[in-house]
Amino acid sequence: MKELHDIRRPVEQELEQYIQLFQQSLDHDDPTLKQALGHIRQRRGKMMRPLLVLLVAKEFGAIGVKTLRSAVTLELLHTASLVHDDVVDNSAERRGQAAEHTLYGNKIAILVGDYLLSQSLHQASLTGDVRVVDIIAQLGGTLSEGEIRQLDNIRIARVSEEDYFHVIHHKTAALFEACARLGALSSNASEERVQAAAKLGEIIGLCFQVRDDIFDYYSDSAIGKPTGNDMAEGKLTLPALYALRKTDDAQSADAQSWARRVKEKTATPDEIASLIEYTKRVGGIDYARETMENFRKEAMPLIATFTNEQVREALTDYLDYTIGRSL
Ligand code: IPE
Ligand code: IPE
Ligand code: MG
Ligand code: MG
Ligand code: MG
Repeated sequence: MKELHDIRRPVEQELEQYIQLFQQSLDHDDPTLKQALGHIRQRRGKMMRPLLVLLVAKEFGAIGVKTLRSAVTLELLHTASLVHDDVVDNSAERRGQAAEHTLYGNKIAILVGDYLLSQSLHQASLTGDVRVVDIIAQLGGTLSEGEIRQLDNIRIARVSEEDYFHVIHHKTAALFEACARLGALSSNASEERVQAAAKLGEIIGLCFQVRDDIFDYYSDSAIGKPTGNDMAEGKLTLPALYALRKTDDAQSADAQSWARRVKEKTATPDEIASLIEYTKRVGGIDYARETMENFRKEAMPLIATFTNEQVREALTDYLDYTIGRSL
């Protein structure tokens, strides 16, 4: 598997320009906001979303300021969603450091998330393209819908895979879809190519969240955020949903009852550990990996339509990284 610095190579210079604009968007004079934003800018994250914007745009010629602003607006929206997500998920760490709410409390974290969202829209407006503003404005709503549906699912006794995919489509894949869409749209691609890029982004985003959800079944401090948090918060993700569906009979009575208690948030750490162990034993992780492999098969023909060889290779490696990454 290629590492991110290799995948970034075709857009290395543009990524530097992007970083400058992103950093500028986080400048502020108010001491509290400056400090709170300073904590965020201290750790950059993988920059998967801006990288996708730039790689797709590269296919259609030289990368201009509209594409760079689109990348900034999408990463700001992503950052806002992380700050709020950590409050919602009661999750104390992000990017190997304390989460915003851990350091500054929920009140500041909510307001900083709002501020980032507003900056994201401001950056969208700086593109001068009302289509970009419209996409970002709608996307903010889509992400929230996904997060809300995820909370609703906790109260549903039997969550289906369809329910799961509805959530991850809204909370994660829609953002990757918008990255690829805006990469193409901001560099004047044809409508047909914009749609194909958007579909590719969507598939990448679904893989991205399935992989993220697998992280939660293992303990690994290198990821930079807590694992085991999903079940602790009542959430059952694809591996466990598969395990529960596949073994829905008398033999799995224990697993069904642990799952019930996870959703009621009354499960003990031992019961959560047992459900995780059970999920692995009956092939839940393998199933999630197969699901990503099926998505890869769907994505490859879309990548094959890219004519710039460097871009095509980088997108292939990007998808491979998304599926196989350990960060
Ligand atoms: C985390 O995204 C949120 C999910 C959609 C799972 P990333 O793993 O891209 O987070 P950073 O930006 O690299 O920290
Ligand atoms: C990611 O979901 C979706 C958003 C950030 C909106 P998670 O809650 O699984 O993301 P992590 O694991 O906290 O990064
Ligand atoms: Mg979370
Ligand atoms: Mg979450
Ligand atoms: Mg997660």
